[in-house]
Parts: sequence; structure tokens; C-alpha cells
Amino acid sequence: MVQDPSTIKLEYDSKGMPFRRLGPSGLRVPVFSLGGWLTLGGTVVGDPVKEIIKVAFEHGINMFDTAEAYAAGKSEEEMGRVIKELGLRRTDLIITTKIFWGPRPGPNDGGLSRKHIIEGTQESLARLQLDYVDVIFAHRSDPNVPMEEVVRAFNYVIDKGWALYWATSEWSAQEIEEAHHVASRLGLIAPIAEQCQHNMFHRERPEKEYAPIYKKYHTGTTVFSALASGLLTGKYNDGIPKGSRFDTHSTFFKNTVQTLQEKEGQEKIRKVRELTKFAEDELQTTPTALALAWVAKNPNTSTVILGASTPEQLLENLKALEVLPKLTDEHIKKIEAILDNSPAPIPTWGRPALDRLGRL
Ligand SMILES: NC(=O)c1ccc[n+]([C@@H]2O[C@H](COP(=O)([O-])OP(=O)(O)OC[C@H]3O[C@@H](n4cnc5c(N)ncnc54)[C@H](OP(=O)(O)O)[C@@H]3O)[C@@H](O)[C@H]2O)c1
Repeated sequence: MVQDPSTIKLEYDSKGMPFRRLGPSGLRVPVFSLGGWLTLGGTVVGDPVKEIIKVAFEHGINMFDTAEAYAAGKSEEEMGRVIKELGLRRTDLIITTKIFWGPRPGPNDGGLSRKHIIEGTQESLARLQLDYVDVIFAHRSDPNVPMEEVVRAFNYVIDKGWALYWATSEWSAQEIEEAHHVASRLGLIAPIAEQCQHNMFHRERPEKEYAPIYKKYHTGTTVFSALASGLLTGKYNDGIPKGSRFDTHSTFFKNTVQTLQEKEGQEKIRKVRELTKFAEDELQTTPTALALAWVAKNPNTSTVILGASTPEQLLENLKALEVLPKLTDEHIKKIEAILDNSPAPIPTWGRPALDRLGRL
């Protein structure tokens, strides 16, 4: 439905935000987008949600990510309300939501059955007060539903005009591969992106397991938890600050907090301190901006979804835009030496590893 021009109050200005194709699709997404997990509709409600989204939009972020699961639907509601109140132009926006954990516990209120994909999408759109989302993600894979049913259901959602593209989140490379095979056998649309965790401490899946998927299908990533929930900012170096995510969601992050007191967690904190020194000395920046720029520099990253509980955090995070063009291969090498956790390359048995075009 064409938007009534009188509802538009805020014009979009990219403010120099770089855009990238979302995987193999023609959709252009900003290198940094904003998500609502635990924050928008959760720890942040009412006017502060509007402030964060307004600041994001005014700094070139026009892509917003949510899920039916976030704050049991409240995240979508808050986002929909704010988009209306700010008077944003729908065509300026890229809105993504995710289906898997529905807001009720019924036997068919979750998962990836055709029933839940279709009903869940319709309920998400109602909460968002939108006719369509740009990308709909399968928030997880569902081993209890045949892949053909999943692929057909997401294609139905696209055919109905409720989403323009579909994508996966935290699927194994094997599952993504299967979805592509089913889609190509049936002449249907395949997933274009993977929403995966990728940060300096979480690398194996996005950097190694998905390598063949990037190569074969040009899948793009919409990265989440690029700051490892805040750990890479250095805020947890000396304990758990009151009001921080590990404090406000202490049950969910119980194991993470526990590990921080053990050898493995202490080692991570030692690395955060080293990264902080490196960021300050070599790039005159913060560990936060460095960690975000590092993920954004990965050639398979389409967008890094930022998480922020305040406009100030968001603005600090956007400093990564200044760091990104300054990050040289030499810097990356030095960062690798600090992290010392690069996934082992896929073996080529003595033959050189080439890309699709036969380049080294
Ligand atoms: N597909 C999935 O399964 C999945 C999973 C997770 C997330 N996501 C998506 O990805 C988005 C981002 O993930 P995330 O929130 O985990 O990202 P993150 O960047 O790792 O963590 C964001 C949190 O770190 C803290 N933080 C952020 N910037 C900070 C700064 N400059 N200084 C100090 N603290 C700062 C804030 O928490 P506090 O202020 O509360 O400490 C903020 O809410 C989510 O909103 C969601 O859209 C998807």
C-alpha cells in the first residue's frame, strides 16, 4: 500500500553510511544496523526507544532488527509505534523480524511449521503495524519440520507480499545447504543471509563452518552480538556493573558470568585489556569501536547489528565507522596475535586454497 506523504515527518539522510548488498540479493543494507534484543521493548520502553531509533536514523542507520520472541512481542510493538510516531518513510527503512519462538507456549505457536511461519508472520506484522517486512528470518532451524515445508512456507510468505526476502539465523552450514538444494529443486527462493553470532571471541562458525556457503551461495551475514553482549567494551573487566546486561539478565547470563571468574573468562578479560591498549595506541580509538570495525571488515559481513541501551552507547559504537577504513592488514595481523583464536583453515592437503575465481 502506498504511504500517505503527509505521514512523513523525518527525511532519511545516509550521512555517509556505507551500504553493502545483503548476500547475493540486490538489497542494500547499511554496514551498521540496530537491533532490539533485550533492549527495545525490554529494558528500554516508551520515549527512550524513540530517542534511540531517532538517533540511529539521524546517523544513517535505516535498518532495524527485531523478532517475535523479543520481549514476548513488545519489541515489535515498540518498534512499530516509534516508526509511526517518528513519521519515517517505509521505503527508506529495512525492517527485519524473526520467526521461531512465538509469544505463547501452544504446540503450534513456535517452530518452523507452515502453520507457525504463516501465523507468526501475520502476528508480527500486526504488532509492527506494517504491511510487510523486508527480510524474515527463521530464528533457528527446526529439525522436526521437513525442509521442503520450511522453504515452501517462507516462499508463500514472500508470494503474499508479507516479506521481500527470507533468511536463516544460527542454522548449521549443512541446514543452509539443504535449504538451497530444496529451493533449487523446486524453483523457489533460497535464503539470502545468515544472522549469526560473530565477534572476536566467537569465530569458528562464521569464519570456518560457513566458508563453503559464502563461496557457493554468496550468503551474507547480519552479525549479532559483535560486542559479545558488552564484554568487548571492557565494561566487565573489573566485575559486573549495576544495570549492565549481565546484571539485569543475570539468570540468562549465569554461565557467562560464572566463566568470567574462571581461567577461560580471565583470559578473555586479559585480551580485552590488550585490545584496549592496542586500540588506543595504534588507532586512537576505543576497544568497542575496534571490535565492531573488526567484524565489519570481514568480507562476508553484510551488516553488523548494533545493540544499545542508550543513545550515548549507540553514538560510541558508530565511531567504528571512522575506524573501519583505517584498519589495515597489518592491524589485523596484530589483532590476530592478541586474540590467538583464529579457526584452523579447512585442509587442502598441500594444495593452495583458491577462491571461486581461482585466486589465492
Ligand atoms: N538471531 C539471533 O539469535 C540474535 C541473538 C542476539 C542478538 N540478535 C540481534 O543482534 C542485535 C545485537 O546483539 P547484541 O545486543 O547481543 O549486541 P552486542 O553489541 O554484543 O551487545 C549490546 C549490549 O552491550 C552493551 N553495550 C553496547 N554498546 C555499549 C557501549 N558503547 N558501552 C557500554 N556498553 C555497551 C549494552 O548492554 P547494557 O547497557 O545492558 O550493558 C547493549 O545492549 C540484537 O539487538 C538483535 O537484533 C540476534
